[in-house]
Amino acid sequence: MSRRMPGDLDQRGTGRSGSGGIRRAPATAAPAAKGAAAHDVKRGVPSGAMGAMGAISGPASMLTPGPTSRPAPGPASGPASGPASGPTAGATSGPGSSPVSGPVSGPVSGPVSGPASGPASGPPVAAAPAPPPPDLDHGRLPAHIAIIMDGNGRWAQRRGLPRSAGHRAGVRPVRAVVEACGELGIPVLTLDAVSTENWKRPRLEVDLLMSLCVEVLDREVAELHAKGVRVRGIGRRDGLPTAVRDALKRAEQRTARNQGLQLVLALNYGGRQEVVDAARRLAADVQAGRLRPEDIDEDRFAAAMDTAGLPEPDLLIRCGGDMRLSNFLLWESAYSELLVTPVHWPDFGRADLLAAVAEFQRRQRRFGGLGGALGGAGDPRA
Ligand code: FPP
Repeated sequence: MSRRMPGDLDQRGTGRSGSGGIRRAPATAAPAAKGAAAHDVKRGVPSGAMGAMGAISGPASMLTPGPTSRPAPGPASGPASGPASGPTAGATSGPGSSPVSGPVSGPVSGPVSGPASGPASGPPVAAAPAPPPPDLDHGRLPAHIAIIMDGNGRWAQRRGLPRSAGHRAGVRPVRAVVEACGELGIPVLTLDAVSTENWKRPRLEVDLLMSLCVEVLDREVAELHAKGVRVRGIGRRDGLPTAVRDALKRAEQRTARNQGLQLVLALNYGGRQEVVDAARRLAADVQAGRLRPEDIDEDRFAAAMDTAGLPEPDLLIRCGGDMRLSNFLLWESAYSELLVTPVHWPDFGRADLLAAVAEFQRRQRRFGGLGGALGGAGDPRA
């Protein structure tokens, strides 16, 4: 039998026992929140009036890239948008070549002003969290939210700061969204931390990203553990620096038995690479006589992916305004609701996440079917 069989996931040490495998989109019409979590929402979340919703307040602002509505406090430097993150002429790093040495410091560090400037180990955010929007339907929450945390560089540029400052400032919203998802009772949150393409960046920037990963994993793990969060990594680990690999392993092991939010960190992750790796695993099983080619179907393929056992993302949020997937969760996001916000990641917060969930609940999901009652709001012919 293939070691990647659905329901056989624990053999890999990465699957969730009893999760029932990958949730599939139904072939028939689906209600708006089909596939959304039907789990119990953690109580204690006040249902009072929604606090300030930030830049995202409705579908239009979600879908239309534009300047963030949170002006930079400092002097703007250069264009507000543009190819700030492309490869530069400087030295680039290859996978695994980035040495990680202790806490983040040194030449790539720079001053960060404003509320998002705290170090990775600073006080937890949302000391006085805004209440959730009153119209949030707690019975139709996404089972899995995935976020492309983009815009760190532009956030920094707008403030006349080095890109490194944007990455440092990008740690605070990680805490904020983890906390908000935990409070709402969202089962899975996946964050796109380091992509397979990020190695094209200058060596110093790659080093900083790696150091931040270690910092987040090591310094936050106690609090994550206390909150019942379970950490899991996806991506090609053998291409990561040892320090990152080890920190990820420590966090996974320490939180392995937790039953709360599952925090999936994409590290040296690429959607195409994940598909290739899954194909290789299946091919190896075929070669070894454990699997027949004709037995390979979508479920079997999904079970060979890094994300085996996780529900597919119901909601995929991209910060920074660019409308593309950038090789993130390509297989898994086939039926995800996509939401692009112009808000740069360092400015993204609890209110933005809640607004995104509210927008998700306004969407009608059809999964290729007709959706809803004929003639009703969900009828595409209506
Ligand atoms: C994209 O902004 C952001 C990244 C490539 C890094 C995100 C990583 C962190 C915030 C560290 C958190 C770590 C963990 C483990 C969760 P960009 O540089 O592409 O921004 P730009 O498009 O404006 O240039």
